Amino acid sequence: MKYMGSKARFAKDLLPIILKDRTEEQYYVEPFVGGCNIIDKVQGKRIASDSNKYLIALWKGLQQGRGLIMEIPKELYDQARNQYNEIKNHNFDDFTIGWIGFMGSFNGRFYGGGYSGKHKNRDYVAEQIRNTLKQVEAIKDIDFHNCNYDQLQIPKGSIVYCDIPYQGTKQYDTKDKFNHDKFWQWCRKVSK
Ligand SMILES: C[S@@+](CC[C@H](N)C(=O)[O-])C[C@H]1O[C@@H](n2cnc3c(N)ncnc32)[C@H](O)[C@@H]1O
Repeated sequence: MKYMGSKARFAKDLLPIILKDRTEEQYYVEPFVGGCNIIDKVQGKRIASDSNKYLIALWKGLQQGRGLIMEIPKELYDQARNQYNEIKNHNFDDFTIGWIGFMGSFNGRFYGGGYSGKHKNRDYVAEQIRNTLKQVEAIKDIDFHNCNYDQLQIPKGSIVYCDIPYQGTKQYDTKDKFNHDKFWQWCRKVSK
């Protein structure tokens, strides 16, 4: 999935390092899973989490084979965005808000980048849907959670890959600004 801060193009360099000494029973955990662009290339026992509830509802819905809206016209996008921004409730569930927001927003920016739609010869919504559906088979048995990273239950001895929001750049869909000092303290504690 096209996603703000996606590491898709680094996966082939990062994963051999991260997984070098992994044993068969060892969990691979991502507390900041975003577009699943790294974890979808990992096999075996996996736990993924993110603080964006619409994103996790989206991944869980795809695992469950939810019916999908394949055309996202601007009017539908605006309705979903209005509900997301609490301007008007259209009775969309979290999966649908997530699906429309991630499939229909420019550069996978989840309502932040505006409606992508069609430009010149490209249909950006169809491209994003195609890319995301390609991941479904690879994410089928991931154990997904929606929580702040420090609330995630991490099995002892797991390999934990943290792709945190960059310092000083646009924030993700979280109420609180990401506290990098607190994060590094948590890392020191968890890595023990
Ligand atoms: C850089 S992105 C991850 C991108 C992902 N590795 C990929 O390649 O698609 C960071 C993610 O962290 C999530 N996030 C931000 N603050 C968080 C927090 N406090 N706890 C858990 N997740 C958080 C954001 O919603 C976003 O999905």
